[in-house]
Amino acid sequence: MQKLWWHDAIVYQVYPRSFQDSNGDGIGDLPGITARLSYLQALGINTLWLCPTFASPMVDNGYDISDYYAVNPEFGTLEDLRALIAQAQAHGIRVLLDLVLNHTSDQHAWFQSALESPSSPYRDFYIFRDGVDGGPPNNWRSNFGGSAWVQAPDGQYYLHVFAREQPDLNWENPAMRSALYEMIHWWMDQGVAGFRIDAICFIKKDQSFRDLPPDGPDGLADVAPRCLVQPGIEDFLAEMRDAAFAPRQAFTVAEANGVLPEQLQNFIGENGFFSTIFDFTYTDIDLKSGNWFDASGFTWRDMRDAIFANQASLQGVGHGAPYLENHDQMRSPNKYLKPHQRTDSAIKALGMLYFFLQGIPFVYQGQELGMGNHPWQSIDDFDDVSSRAQYEAALAYGLSEAEALAAIAHRARDNARTPMLWTDAAHAGFSTDTPWLPVHPGFPRINAEAQQQSDASIWAFYRNMLRIRREHSRLFFDGAFLPLCEDAKDVIAYERALDGTRICVYCNFSDAPLRTDLPPHTVLLSTCPQTAEAIAPLSAMMVRMR
Ligand code: NOJ
Ligand code: CA
Repeated sequence: MQKLWWHDAIVYQVYPRSFQDSNGDGIGDLPGITARLSYLQALGINTLWLCPTFASPMVDNGYDISDYYAVNPEFGTLEDLRALIAQAQAHGIRVLLDLVLNHTSDQHAWFQSALESPSSPYRDFYIFRDGVDGGPPNNWRSNFGGSAWVQAPDGQYYLHVFAREQPDLNWENPAMRSALYEMIHWWMDQGVAGFRIDAICFIKKDQSFRDLPPDGPDGLADVAPRCLVQPGIEDFLAEMRDAAFAPRQAFTVAEANGVLPEQLQNFIGENGFFSTIFDFTYTDIDLKSGNWFDASGFTWRDMRDAIFANQASLQGVGHGAPYLENHDQMRSPNKYLKPHQRTDSAIKALGMLYFFLQGIPFVYQGQELGMGNHPWQSIDDFDDVSSRAQYEAALAYGLSEAEALAAIAHRARDNARTPMLWTDAAHAGFSTDTPWLPVHPGFPRINAEAQQQSDASIWAFYRNMLRIRREHSRLFFDGAFLPLCEDAKDVIAYERALDGTRICVYCNFSDAPLRTDLPPHTVLLSTCPQTAEAIAPLSAMMVRMR
């Protein structure tokens, strides 16, 4: 395979609203990110993914775009973004933007024109249908709860797979698709290296728009069976690859849930639709359904099976995008570890567990500090549009208010969106004024400045992981993946191998030492002092075989 720059990529994800405020309005911004590039360089990343920075009314914090060509004024100007891209390059870092192509904001000029008149050329850029029996065209439920249809003033309904302020684009319309491809080229001209691509598997809708059997007390049905990875989506994705990404050699990482192992070849194989896609099987393992209050009660064995199945499906096909956290997930120590298990060693072990899997690793802001969930007190404290919908759904399913709050507080996306913890000063050094979301109270101990000064910190451990990953970049990107210790309970262990080099990772999440009987080896990294014969409970070790 021809070597491309992104084969060595280590990606850091920034949520612009929460990374660094530079002008004291309590909201993170682009100059703030630029000011922190040295921090990212010191950690050792070489690629930076910015969650949406485009003009937006921020109903879904930028995943509702009102102008693809403009920067959201609360983040700065186009000049600020150009400066960030140039400065990042000077720090050896390439920039990825977040492409939202399934829907726009209802404030987008296309949608405003479509609403104004059914004869607007932009009407067909969206999905408008007549109602049935005085109600919406069908019983689909949006991903954020409630009917997926909203009635427009002229009587027809428009479809939204996410919030009502996020009308879905009509990919059946070639003029709409061309407009998106043109926009992608324009951003490549601004110097970005590629894109993370939002919710892309929802772009094709079953054109029959038929009802589904209701699956909840609201009488509605999840849209997924009619809107997720529908037959024919391949034509749109191949066209976009050929028209927009391939000519520019853009790196692309798609949020592509619902892709089956047998479809991976098309998606990420040789000349696939994307460079890589995220796997949800082990990051959503705590959920039984799409509802945050529906906990799966997973075990470490379930987790191991999910990771191993994903790694097996990639072998000889394409490359994965291992990650532990993102802006849609709760913090990983809270998800994977019980309260008494949340030690620095165990949090480092979680890092080691995923970071050396096959593909391109991603780190989400604050993960490298071991940030935890926020101690939420009231449903009114949440900003996220989907938290309120989940709360209402939980009540409708019969949970008490206290139970619903506990479930939402545990899983809420805002857990990942509280401000980055920089120092032990006021507002954790994020802003000089009160931030838009509360600062995690753990900041006097959990902050970047303190952790950068200690060799024993989670930050220092991440820096070491990144160094090792860079030193053996080909082995970790491309090498074989072999399961180890499959009989050991609450242990996830694997070997990566390439051209005679063998590196083994042992993660012990049990409460007993893991007996090892290793052939001659060198310890590359360990989460706590280990003896030669055993790996302590809630810790991990990585060795190279001699
Ligand atoms: C996935 C994004 O990651 C999430 O934050 C957003 O709410 C939805 N797609 C809708 O764009
Ligand atoms: Ca600001």
